Formats: sequence, C-alpha cells, structure tokens
Amino acid sequence: MKILFLNPSGQLGGAERVLLDFMASIRATHPAWHLEMVATAEGPFVSRAVALGIATTVLPLPAPLAAFGDGGVDTERNRVWRSLILLAVFVRGAAPTAAYIWRLRRHLRLAAPDVIHSNGFKTHLLGLWARPPGVPVIWHVHDFVARRPLMSTLLRRHARRCAAVVANSRSVAEDVRAVCGESIPIHLLYNAVDLETFSPDGPMLDLDAAARLSPPPPGTVRIGLIATLAWWKGHTVFLQALSLLPPELPFRAYVVGGALYETQRSQHTVNGLRELTVKLGIEDRVGFTGFVEDAAAAMRALDIVVHASSEPEPFGLVIAEAMACGRPLVVSLAGGAAELVRVGENALGHRPGDSASLAQCIRVLINDPSLRRALGQAGRVTAERSFDRARLAGQLVPIYRAAGAFG
Ligand code: GLC
Repeated sequence: MKILFLNPSGQLGGAERVLLDFMASIRATHPAWHLEMVATAEGPFVSRAVALGIATTVLPLPAPLAAFGDGGVDTERNRVWRSLILLAVFVRGAAPTAAYIWRLRRHLRLAAPDVIHSNGFKTHLLGLWARPPGVPVIWHVHDFVARRPLMSTLLRRHARRCAAVVANSRSVAEDVRAVCGESIPIHLLYNAVDLETFSPDGPMLDLDAAARLSPPPPGTVRIGLIATLAWWKGHTVFLQALSLLPPELPFRAYVVGGALYETQRSQHTVNGLRELTVKLGIEDRVGFTGFVEDAAAAMRALDIVVHASSEPEPFGLVIAEAMACGRPLVVSLAGGAAELVRVGENALGHRPGDSASLAQCIRVLINDPSLRRALGQAGRVTAERSFDRARLAGQLVPIYRAAGAFG
C-alpha cells in the first residue's frame, strides 16, 4: 500500500504536528506500507517527516500562490477588499500555478499512490487538479471553511471530486457539511498526541532564558499562551486579561510561538504584541520566547496553560497537549475546543474574546495551587482516555478503504 500525503507548508503548525502523529501511528500498525509526502516548502515539519522515515519531496509553491490566503482578519469591509485583492493575486498567479500543477501531476503519476491524503486547503485543490486518474483524494480538514470567502466557494465547487473528508472536530465536520453539502462522506476523527512526549514528567524549557529575561523570584506562577501568531489565537485577549490582574499577584506570563505563515496579513508580529504590552503597562510581566521546537518542554515549565482563541477554535491541539502534560488549562469555549473539555473537571473555561472572564479564571488558578493540581491530574486522565495517538491508524485506514483506496 502506498499513501501519499500532501501538505501546503514546511512549518510546524498544529495541522502538521497532527499529520506527523497520523504517520507515526500508521507506521506502527502497518510497517510494510510505503508512506510518502510532498510538502510545498522546506522547514522543520519536513525535517521531522524525514526523521520519521517518510519519503519526502519538497515542491516549492510559486511565490504568489504561497502568499495567497483568505484567512486574514474578517470584517465586512475587509471581505470585499480582500476578495478583490485575492482575485488580483489569483490572476497574477495563474500561469505559475498551472506550471506547478503540471509538475505535481508528473510527480504523482510516478509515485502512483493508492490514496492521496491532503492536509490543507491549498493542497485540497492542487491534489484534485494533479492526481492520477482514479486515485482517491481525502481532504483532512483542520480549520473552519465557511470563514474563508474564496476557499469555501472553491471547495464547494470541487467537493464532488473528493472521496472523503476527515474533520478534526464535530464543529468542523458541521462547517464542512454546511459548505460542501451532503454529497461527500465526512468522518469525525479527533486529533491525538504522543502521550510519551507529552507527559507530566520530562525536560523543562528554560522559558526565561528563551525570552531573555532573568529568572523571576521564587514562588512566581508561570502562565503561558502557546500558539502560532495567527490573528485569531487570542494574543490580545490574553494580554488584556493579564493587565486586569491585580499587580500584586506573583505571576510572569509568556507568549510562546512565532509567526509561521507565508500568507499575507494572517498573523500578529512579536513587535506588535510587545507594543501592546507597553500600552497595557505589563511589559515587565510578559516574555516572548518565539517559536519553540519542543512544545512539551515549554508546557512542563508552565504552571497554567492558556488557550484564548477569539474565534471558535477548530480543535485546539494545545488543549490535548497540555492535558497530556498534566497542566491546568483555561480554554476559550467555542468550536471544537469546547468539545474537548469538561469545565471545572479538567479545565476552566472563558467566553471567547472576553478578557475579563479569562482574567477571572487565571486569577482563581494563581490563588489555588490545589485546584491547579486537580485539574492537571484530571487532564492527564482525559488525555490517556481520549487523545492517545495509537488509535489514529485504526480510525483512518477504514476511511481510506471506504474511499476506494485499496481497490
Ligand atoms: C489547525 C486548527 C487547530 C487544530 C490544528 C490541528 O491549526 O486551527 O484548531 O488544533 O489544526 O488539527
């Protein structure tokens, strides 16, 4: 059996980390299968796939197509402008895109896979346009589609040619159903993590050194937001919440993560966020570590992990990871994220975008170490029950089969 994965980035975002877990799980259960990947850029994701033994090829996207994206800040006025700009970019990128499809088609023909598993919006389309005749293409959908004006139109138009959709949460499955209609089989398959890497015990990252800060006084509670800098991950909500905490509380906060995406206007910059800390008067209480390769080590160094997405979160891998690390969590309760937790039992929850309600949760946790411990322990139990990556292959392979992958 030959599975070919297509990924529209070389960076290590949540979707890529999940794909690595799927690959590892298939590798463990079907060691004789040939796993191959095409990524559209070099980066740490590609190195990790190679380290897993996946035959990986990088076919770099032409620049206009790499920068093309409709996941930016969404207001009504923006929408119209963005659609026009996107159209212009699309037209400019038409010739290089056609050339790219030709190269990809040649590559796929030679690879002759039994199934193509695409892991992001751009490759969902490119995969369909370039696949050899008869090879099923599976769309693994990690993000809400309806939010993206152009992509939802394109996916709707192509949905009938896709063999099946894998959605990372019930909310995402419903969203895909609303955009693409009834004709396409949609399978709910929650993400999972490596419970050995993400475990309560293990190396801890020196967050202060990473953020170029001197260590805080003993007894300081460390609070962190671990996320890409995508605009909707709630960095501003997090910083505003910190500014609402009583100054005498012993805490230091960390923004862990970097700008990952090539798409235009889709993310914050560290400088922009630093300026916000100055405006809020909390610049001496917040450190910025930049991108961290070992997310588990960063989590273990935190006393409280915050998830603060201001929009409904499709899944929220950081939630499963923090639970697996036995860390107490505050979660923004919408979308897939709300499906993963039981508030009060294995996490606290706040309303998306509501910095006052987030501040209240953080404050409770800073003041109550035994609650932190109880939530962390319950989180680990949940992770062992629901987020063990060993289950992934067993759930995915029947989906490939039903899609006609193996004859
Ligand atoms: C995307 C989603 C995120 C999810 C990840 C893995 O990055 O935005 O919610 O955790 O994919 O599925």
